Amino acid sequence: MHVLVIGSGAREHALLLALRRDPEVETLAVAPGNAGTAVIADQYDVDVTSGEAVTKLAQRIGADLVVVGPEVPLVLGVADAVRAAGIDCFGPTKDASRIEGSKSFAKDVMTAAGVRTATSEIVDTPARLDEALDRFGPAAGDPAWVVKDDGLAAGKGVVVTADRDAARAHAAGLLDAGHPVLLESFLDGPEVSLFCVVDGETVVPLLPAQDFKRVGDNDSGPNTGGMGAYAPLPWLPDEVTTQIVDDIVKPVAAELVRRGSSFSGLLYAGLAITSRGPAVVEFNCRFGDPETQSVLALLDSPLGQLLRAAATGQLAGFGELRWQEGAAVTVVLAAENYPGRPRVGDAITGSEADGVLHAGTARRDDGAVVSSGGRVLSVVGTGEDLSAARAAAYRLIESVRLPGSHFRTDIGLAAAEGRIAL
Ligand code: GLY
Repeated sequence: MHVLVIGSGAREHALLLALRRDPEVETLAVAPGNAGTAVIADQYDVDVTSGEAVTKLAQRIGADLVVVGPEVPLVLGVADAVRAAGIDCFGPTKDASRIEGSKSFAKDVMTAAGVRTATSEIVDTPARLDEALDRFGPAAGDPAWVVKDDGLAAGKGVVVTADRDAARAHAAGLLDAGHPVLLESFLDGPEVSLFCVVDGETVVPLLPAQDFKRVGDNDSGPNTGGMGAYAPLPWLPDEVTTQIVDDIVKPVAAELVRRGSSFSGLLYAGLAITSRGPAVVEFNCRFGDPETQSVLALLDSPLGQLLRAAATGQLAGFGELRWQEGAAVTVVLAAENYPGRPRVGDAITGSEADGVLHAGTARRDDGAVVSSGGRVLSVVGTGEDLSAARAAAYRLIESVRLPGSHFRTDIGLAAAEGRIAL
């Protein structure tokens, strides 16, 4: 199998490493990739938001499976273009990708599927903002307002705050930029990311994971694209994972089929485990970052064969997935000033070690690896349990040097100390 992976993050680096372990994968290519992926795959610099460009590349290099990592190409219809050229593609159609690309579409699907989620309201004009804010947040008995961009925002469109002025300012800024705003009720309880490989009504769950969206320890500071993750979740009973699959993911997949928007790819359920049971925070139409780096570190089943089965309608016959025992922890090394405008162009040392996955990196003409984005690297540690995996990840990150960089020190800590309870 000749596989082309689309994307340039540590998620794509993790996908490539897991694909490389599959004996049926003969060659790996990536576009556009980064300095780390260039070492393990043939790298091509094409516009990955263009279905035509991706299809031409796949044809030119003889790819027989294209795996689309990020949401933007999916929402723009890149998977449709690849499939139309007769090449197998892991990733949903433009139509089905609305489950992430439009929060109002996702709410509609969840309501029709009878799935628990936050109550919400779309505000599309500043004139309705103040009265709508009165129906949410502390004004309505919730601890905080939840204000979201209705469209894609790379994880940074969400503000959760008990400060009405901050909630209003975020919403007003989105409306000024022409983006409808989604106000939601607050879902309390620990969060879970459950990735499911889906083809129509067939759903194969991966290990549950948890990510850390705030930039600072103890969930302080602004939201980011993700600062770390761990898998599996020692505090989450297997029955709850089964309940999420049976009562949430399967009904949503079936509702998408019923609407003629059948989903084929990775359906990511972001959930809060509330006192009344699991409720959906959001759905995404692709693998999550940085959870993928932890989840795939533990996958024993052949990833290329799994993704090809989903892409070719054979998923129902794939069977149970196999996993390594133990745990995996991912810690993201971010550039100075991230999630604001990051400082870039600094030389990084120690980034070639096993377990260091690249994201915002590039290779300079003199051969040095330099930072080129906000989330620069993910380091992944594995171990017999969460504490051992944490120790491995934090040992590894100490061996990487990037001036001005920062990382969270508490990834997986509360779970390792038994402080998460349902
Ligand atoms: N882990 C958050 C995301 O991938 O959107």
